[in-house]
Amino acid sequence: MTTKNILLLCGGGSAEHEVSLRSVKFFEECLSQFSDFRTIKIEIDKQGQWVDGSGKRYLLDGKKFLRAFEQDGDPGLKIDVAIPCIHGYPGETGDLQSYFEMIHLPYIGCNSETSKMCFNKITTKMWATALGVENTPYIFFSENNEITDSKVLEFQKTYGDIVVKASNQGSSVGCYMVAANESPLKVLKEAFTLSPFVLIEKRMRPRELEVSVYEFDGKFQVSYPGEILTPSTTFYTYEEKYSSASQSTTMVKVENLTPDQVQTITDYATKLYHGLKIRHLSRIDFFLDNGKIYLNEINTFPGLTSISMFPKMMEANGHSFKAYIGQLINNL
Ligand SMILES: Nc1ncnc2c1ncn2[C@@H]1O[C@H](COP(=O)(O)OP(=O)(O)O)[C@@H](O)[C@H]1O
Ligand SMILES: [Mg+2]
Repeated sequence: MTTKNILLLCGGGSAEHEVSLRSVKFFEECLSQFSDFRTIKIEIDKQGQWVDGSGKRYLLDGKKFLRAFEQDGDPGLKIDVAIPCIHGYPGETGDLQSYFEMIHLPYIGCNSETSKMCFNKITTKMWATALGVENTPYIFFSENNEITDSKVLEFQKTYGDIVVKASNQGSSVGCYMVAANESPLKVLKEAFTLSPFVLIEKRMRPRELEVSVYEFDGKFQVSYPGEILTPSTTFYTYEEKYSSASQSTTMVKVENLTPDQVQTITDYATKLYHGLKIRHLSRIDFFLDNGKIYLNEINTFPGLTSISMFPKMMEANGHSFKAYIGQLINNL
């Protein structure tokens, strides 16, 4: 039996660095159960340096060798598979994937193009609309100027409460709720400091539903939807997602949806999976508002912490994450 060297990357440069460090523990635990996998965990720090647990720096060369950076003559270790266990830049954004593609290194997850399109909340919505997947009313902007200001105010006049979102962020960073009677201009400016584009949406009063989509035994799977329950006084903020004081709860199998609503979610998830060429895994998030299903967003590398929904919904769908990851790696 030959051993596969698996490069497990975590950390990264985004606000979700710490979340990735939690997700990677789950991955390590699953991978450690395979005797033919050798896992090499490397953390990408906020400056983009690749470091191991002892602080030693590495680089992955064009021949797929992981080499110590400051050790002349280090023969390095040939990597067989990479896992970019990173939420946000540079792992969920397609950047690492581009490099893996360039050096022909097999890796887990969506390709660079799909990652990029799904990470950008605006391109995701454009695709959703084109694929016939309902999503919240929106407009978007490339520049923060007076024309943008007046268009945002006009949108607010039409829809009342709105949401201002930086296009390329996650974990609710750069996502601001603006009431109908508040000025959106300050947070609009702030959102532009976080991303090159800004999305404005109608604020819904939704139930938040999500599904795991993945491949198992070579077959595409959509789990039964789960639900995030957040107190009505807030929304699913960074704190509600990760703080121990969070009052949000999750339900792995949602109750009281109509069969039609479940079917719509499954149909939408299927259209998005194939239309956007999603590969291996994603968590697709929906809103249910006034009886209707809307896409919220696609997470191509969803959280895998102890409280995360992706593996739980997968288990509830009859598949273990460990078996799933083993299959993926062996079939790459
Ligand atoms: N149009 C909307 N109406 C109501 N709430 C929203 C809307 N968009 C986002 N939210 C709230 O903000 C949270 C974060 O937004 P989301 O687009 O999922 O960004 P992130 O990638 O940061 O998770 C959602 O889970 C939801 O609670
Ligand atoms: Mg979200």
